[in-house]
Amino acid sequence: MNAIRSLPRLSAVLLAFAACVAPLAQAFELAPLPYPHNALVPVIDEQTMQIHHGRHHKAYVDNLNAAIAKDAALQGKTLEALFPGISQLPAAVRNNGGGHWNHTFFWQSMTRPGQGGAPSAALQAAITRDFGSLDAFKTAFKAAGVGRFGSGWAWLIVGSDGKLKITSTPNQDNPLMDVAPDRGTPLLGNDVWEHAYYLQYQNRRGDYLDAWWQIVDWNVISARYAAATSTAR
Ligand SMILES: [Fe+2]
Repeated sequence: MNAIRSLPRLSAVLLAFAACVAPLAQAFELAPLPYPHNALVPVIDEQTMQIHHGRHHKAYVDNLNAAIAKDAALQGKTLEALFPGISQLPAAVRNNGGGHWNHTFFWQSMTRPGQGGAPSAALQAAITRDFGSLDAFKTAFKAAGVGRFGSGWAWLIVGSDGKLKITSTPNQDNPLMDVAPDRGTPLLGNDVWEHAYYLQYQNRRGDYLDAWWQIVDWNVISARYAAATSTAR
């Protein structure tokens, strides 16, 4: 019942994501957070969310627009259209385009503590098939985040073969880019840049990754999995 009740909200989330990572009025836009800055407390503190969204994410959007404005051939294209050929584009487009897409995806992946539900039956079955259990998946995902040297992201992706895989990327790269070691459709991503957690967790990245499961929105992740696998069929 929870899944059925949440369908209109999930549709709105997915449409909002598509709208803000597409070039509207010839410029990318910073969408408001889908919840108040203090909604993720005690997992992520209010000040971190204010700085992370209002300064870091905003800078990616501003710098992306400045980079796109310099090249008419890139204007009017979605980021998803640019990512498969990102290795041939300026570093400013790769870094800031990734920064905008990744953060938009990240905000939409979270919800208030305890409100994220559980994986759908289909996603749970795939997690069990490919990782053994949900706990084993979480352990492996944390290892990917802790093991990312420097700044970057940990990801859960579904590949073109339909299998789930955990991967990580440096800086603001993502699995949609041709530079990624493992390419696929992202279902979940966690930002392991220090700006994502340092005020509250300092150098304890592992503690941040452990706490983060409390705010993962499995309803959204499950909807992404359903969309990705229905496209693949
Ligand atoms: Fe970030």
